[in-house]
Amino acid sequence: MNGETNLKKKISIIDVKKCKETREKYSMVTGYDYTTATIINESSINMILVGDSLGMVMMGYESTVPVTMEEMIHHIRAVVKGAPQTLIVGDLPFGSYNVSIEQAVANANRLMKEGGCDCVKLEGGSEMADVIQAIVRAGIPVVGHIGLTPQSISALGGYKVQGKDYEAAEKLVSDAKAIEAAGAFMVVVECVPAVVGKLITDSINIPTMGIGAGVDCDCQILILQDMMGMYADLAPKFVKKYASLREVMVEALDTFHSEVRDKSFPTEEFSYNTKIEGLE
Ligand code: KIV
Repeated sequence: MNGETNLKKKISIIDVKKCKETREKYSMVTGYDYTTATIINESSINMILVGDSLGMVMMGYESTVPVTMEEMIHHIRAVVKGAPQTLIVGDLPFGSYNVSIEQAVANANRLMKEGGCDCVKLEGGSEMADVIQAIVRAGIPVVGHIGLTPQSISALGGYKVQGKDYEAAEKLVSDAKAIEAAGAFMVVVECVPAVVGKLITDSINIPTMGIGAGVDCDCQILILQDMMGMYADLAPKFVKKYASLREVMVEALDTFHSEVRDKSFPTEEFSYNTKIEGLE
């Protein structure tokens, strides 16, 4: 987008719904804070997911399970402020939509009203269809999420590729169809063989947002700190590093540290050099 910042137009949910037809491939990254959101907003990226992955990436939790509604709202607010020209999806955290339909609608309302995002995302297949339907009926656009669903990491037995046999692939297709029938406008497909990503994409009329699901998904998402080479705790095969910011930051920090020690920082350039009589 360089130099074209003001030209970026915020895409709408309607644009996303049509992208299968228009063959427009939208890009999405995760975002969790104001400054990074301003950077993403300045780029050509179309959508930001304020994902509950913030529990691991920003808070250092071992999984996304402990993330609370308050934490989600806190981060969504910051991203909404920083990225007015980018469509923002807020993630419903674990435990915020599995108690009852009323609880799910109430928490989706909170993400929209208190966070200010454009729509919400929740994990799960056909078993979540009635929840998705109720949230959509309440006027809130919903993104589904199937395949590797990190909130169920305990039940899945770890971060593993999903849909690896015929039956499992068929189940994912029927989950995607149920999510579509429930009224979701898009579905995230995470960590499945590329051939299964294509099968799901070809089987439904709403766009798929792939992460580790091959090139045939309608759109693609990556976790920003993964693609920027900042997060070192997990390294899934599907992550392409577009930059090595961790190395850049460590080098800058080491340089600052040594300049502090040898007093080469701050020079006059970085000091207020006001002359004060009597203090010469
Ligand atoms: O929370 C998250 O960042 C996600 C992505 C992995 C899709 O759900």
